[in-house]
Amino acid sequence: MRVPFIAGNWKMNLTHLEAMDFLVDLESRFENKNGCEIAVCPPFTSIRSVKTLLDEKKIEASLGAQNMFYEQSGAYTGEISPLMLKALGVEYVILGHSERRQYFYETNGLVNQKIKSSIANGIKPILCIGETLDIRERGEAEDFVLGQLKECLDGIDQDAAALLTIAYEPIWAIGTGKTATVQDANGMCSRIRGKLSKLYKDKTAEEIRIQYGGSVKPSNISELMHASDIDGALVGGASLKVDDFLDIINY
Ligand code: 13P
Repeated sequence: MRVPFIAGNWKMNLTHLEAMDFLVDLESRFENKNGCEIAVCPPFTSIRSVKTLLDEKKIEASLGAQNMFYEQSGAYTGEISPLMLKALGVEYVILGHSERRQYFYETNGLVNQKIKSSIANGIKPILCIGETLDIRERGEAEDFVLGQLKECLDGIDQDAAALLTIAYEPIWAIGTGKTATVQDANGMCSRIRGKLSKLYKDKTAEEIRIQYGGSVKPSNISELMHASDIDGALVGGASLKVDDFLDIINY
């Protein structure tokens, strides 16, 4: 049985002071009726404050980062290492988000190095993959997404793969208000699982959680979560509003 996993990707939002206000508000109304695993992924500058409040307020949520570099330390100005994240109590790291691919030119090869490093350093990767509208309209979405998956997982063995979460995020659905239909989203998630079962043992492929991301909101979460191969959501905009985030968790 895969435990549903709902993570909030705050992107470049909330100062550490605003993040603390958010958590105080969240705690005052927190409930998790479905027993999902919950994670919040704040910007680096808020991680320490968020961790303190999660612990102090006993909010049952995991902590994730939105990116990391693959080296442990060294002359890499502006970068953050897996050791630094680990020391802050970070459990997950989002890797290969389409915004990192688009604005910071991250390639599948780089994402692959980051995945290997996160696992070697004890942080579980949430690997994002997804196609543009152009690719979808050309009928090439499946090949593209499965190609990303294969390249990002190159050389990742069975044990390491067991630590993965995959987030299928069609780029045309991110921040646009357009959600993929449940059939399309579930269809792609099921093809991703099919590909995982070619790369790994069936048991591993069955256990890896696959999230959907892209304009997830209170009004569409329930339908998505009831689909056979969607095990959770990676939520952007709606994870910044306490009411919406709680409605999503308690779909
Ligand atoms: P939105 O939920 O704002 O569309 O963002 C999705 C996303 O990119 C999560 O990583």
